[in-house]
This record gives sequence, structure tokens and C-alpha cells, in this order.
Amino acid sequence: MGRKKLIKLNVIKDLENVFDFRDGDDEKNIRKYFDNDNPITLELGCGHGEYTFNLAREYPGRNFLGIDIKGSRLYNGAIDSIQYDIPNSAFLVSRIEKLPEIFSEEKIEEIIIPFPDPHVRRRSEKHRLVSPEFLKTYKSFLVEKGNIHLKTDNTELYEYALKILQKEKHNIIYSTSDLHSTDDELFIKTVLTRYEKHYVNEGRKIKYVCFNINRKENP
Ligand SMILES: C[S@@+](CC[C@H](N)C(=O)[O-])C[C@H]1O[C@@H](n2cnc3c(N)ncnc32)[C@H](O)[C@@H]1O
Repeated sequence: MGRKKLIKLNVIKDLENVFDFRDGDDEKNIRKYFDNDNPITLELGCGHGEYTFNLAREYPGRNFLGIDIKGSRLYNGAIDSIQYDIPNSAFLVSRIEKLPEIFSEEKIEEIIIPFPDPHVRRRSEKHRLVSPEFLKTYKSFLVEKGNIHLKTDNTELYEYALKILQKEKHNIIYSTSDLHSTDDELFIKTVLTRYEKHYVNEGRKIKYVCFNINRKENP
């Protein structure tokens, strides 16, 4: 492992706004940190954490938890949240697959999945964060009508998501194959992720779908 990564890992393990599944951190510690009853939004695969940080700044009435398996990546978001005194932004080092062990009941209000790795090869389908297996995982800790938002530049992943959602009869609330050209007022347009800024600058269209789980059809 590179020296810079090691330094970052050493710093984040002592930060009060960074939690680690492998250290036994759980929902209780995280809620204690937020210290309020405001809704919690999870950002899955938060990378460097600036999206979680910026959302938290923009929407102080909600709590935002950025989650990534790579601890060294979320260093920037975690440090900025402390330096700019943003108490509704926190981070969790964990595999997404482990979240049902951390969030035991259906209490999380919202999930955002921004620019996940598309895993376009058929054999990798189970790794797509909108595969039926992942949707089942989210159901276990989301509130009944909790919205899930997917943003991607990848047409295959977007079409795959729509196909799965229709097949399993989930409730699609909104979808577009060109998010930034729609006039609709959507909170998801207000803050851009690191990847999104890059893709928008390159002139790529951002696809977006917002949905919630149909529990009757998927008990
Ligand atoms: C393409 S990056 C997107 C970063 C950020 N969301 C953005 O839009 O700028 C995907 C991130 O997801 C994380 N990731 C991928 N699979 C994961 C998993 N199963 N559990 C936790 N994190 C995961 C990766 O480590 C990586 O940082």
C-alpha cells in the first residue's frame, strides 16, 4: 500500500465522523454521532466523499452517510466535514453487502447510488448495485416508501435498472436519460458528484431513475 494511503487510513481511524464496520461500529454509534432524529440518506460508493459533504451542506435538515469499502478514499469528505463544521455528514467504511448487519430495522429514509461501477459483463451482473440481490438487501433497512436514486452515465446500467424495476414491479417515480436537460425541479440536479462533473464536462448524458421497493410484489 502507498505511503499516502497509509497516512490517510491512520488519520481517518481517529476521526469522530468516520465509522468502520470491521471495528464493530453500528447504527447506534452513527445515530449517536448525528444526535438528532432527522432522516438519514445513505450514499453508496461515496468514493472521495465530497458528494456526501456537499449534500449535507445544502440540506442541513437531513443526515448524510457516505459509505465506501475503500477507507483512504473518503478522507477528503471526512476532513472537510470537520473543518467546515458540517455535523450532518459522516462516513462508514464497509462493503455495501454488509449493511443489513449494521442497519437492522427498516429505518433508513433514502439511498443514493451515484455512478456505481457498471459491471457490464453478464457474469458480473450480481455486482451491479441495482441487481435483484442488492434490492433485497436495501429493502431490509429502508423505510416502507424510502426512495432509491440511481445516477449513471452508463446506458447499459440504466437500461438494466429499468428492466429489473419493471420485471419486479417496483414503483418507478421518475426516470430520464438526460437529467441535466430536463426542466423538472429535482433535488438530485442541485449537487453534482465528482464523476458527474467530469462526465458533464465531457458532454455525456446523465441518466437518472428514482424508485421505491414494491413490498407486496417482493415480500
Ligand atoms: C465509480 S466510483 C463512484 C464515486 C462517487 N459516487 C462519484 O460519483 O463521484 C464507485 C465507488 O464505489 C465503491 N464500491 C464499489 N463496490 C462497493 C461495495 N460493494 N461496497 C462498498 N463500496 C463499493 C468503490 O470503492 C468506489 O469508490
